[in-house]
Amino acid sequence: MSKKDDPPKTQQKKAPKTKSQQVKEKPKTTDDWIEEIIPKRSKTRITKSSSEDLSDVAVNQFPGIGPAVSEKLISAGYLTLAAVAYASPIELVEHCEIGEQTAKRLITAARSQIGIGFKNAKELLKIRQKIQKIPTGSKALDNLLVGGVETSSLTEISGEFRTGKTQICFQLCVMTAMDKKHGGLGAGAVFIDTEGTFRPERIIQIANRFGADADEVLSRINVGRAYNSDHQMVLVLESPKIIKENNAKLMIIDSLTSHFRAEYAGRGSLLERQQKLNKYLHQLLRLAEVYEIAIVATNQVLSKPDVLYGETTFPIGGHIVAHSCTTRIFLRKGKGEKRIARVIDSPHIPEIETVFCIVNEGIVDVEDSS
Ligand SMILES: Nc1ncnc2c1ncn2[C@@H]1O[C@H](COP(=O)(O)OP(=O)(O)OP(=O)(O)O)[C@@H](O)[C@H]1O
Ligand SMILES: [Mg+2]
Repeated sequence: MSKKDDPPKTQQKKAPKTKSQQVKEKPKTTDDWIEEIIPKRSKTRITKSSSEDLSDVAVNQFPGIGPAVSEKLISAGYLTLAAVAYASPIELVEHCEIGEQTAKRLITAARSQIGIGFKNAKELLKIRQKIQKIPTGSKALDNLLVGGVETSSLTEISGEFRTGKTQICFQLCVMTAMDKKHGGLGAGAVFIDTEGTFRPERIIQIANRFGADADEVLSRINVGRAYNSDHQMVLVLESPKIIKENNAKLMIIDSLTSHFRAEYAGRGSLLERQQKLNKYLHQLLRLAEVYEIAIVATNQVLSKPDVLYGETTFPIGGHIVAHSCTTRIFLRKGKGEKRIARVIDSPHIPEIETVFCIVNEGIVDVEDSS
């Protein structure tokens, strides 16, 4: 509005409202509801001189961002400074409907605030000490994973059908959602179900094994049913809000590749599939780091009959999945309920294997299975 359009000053003064009118007319602003999901600490206006880790500061506390832009960022799932700092300009333009120059300016400013450049190895050790481990229900499997599945990383569990991929996911949900006194993390979990195999009954059975409150455990797990690969990608974009609201420490994608595989069948569409999968994996990796959650993605396998020696089955997705996942676990069937887990790629675990069992109570050690 130009100055000419401004109403005269005398007209701007309105009659004072009664108390009940004031309460009725106050709409809920972005600041109001973000306060509910981002820690209180974030409400102090940020300054560059602060030595505090500013990654988790809410975007609406960002100097220079107006309410309109911060609202766009928030509704597209970019809730914190870290989320903006790790984004690319093209992505912000695409998801938030802002101009390219604005996107570049935001990213540069966010990066300078959280110090995205080099970090000293001692500092990194401190950051790694903040990482939480989600136990698996089996001591042998926990030992293999040096304590459990790590937060801030992407773990792949691959294997043939019935090898226990989904069962491990159920177990991890319970271990995350259970209270600390029962050996859990007391946090939330998000389950993206692409195959319609999520079973709350299994969650109850597993929670009962630990004497945990099954109702409470169920209430901390949020399930999103993905009907195709686009839907699967949209759910991930929408997940930051639910992660923050529920203090989620685990996100399951069961399965990572089934929709991609079904929709992009044939050699002709392989390149397109791989490009889309690559984009998706990068979104997941960033989500894991920015929101400090463990992301566990299951993957099916492909058999290669022309291989003469060694493994004849391989996880789907080729090099793109192989390079994107932080830790890769490969499952195969043993006798009866026994399953063998092998770490096939990890920055901190050697390539070793162990045996665990799937029973009514979930994932257990072999000696506890009878
Ligand atoms: N309540 C239960 N008690 C004991 N074992 C169970 C129970 N529920 C499932 N299982 C076992 O878990 C195995 C199936 O595991 P799971 O569903 O995790 O397979 P998956 O690897 O996810 O397979 P897919 O690739 O088909 O999704 C079966 O061998 C089944 O017998
Ligand atoms: Mg499954």
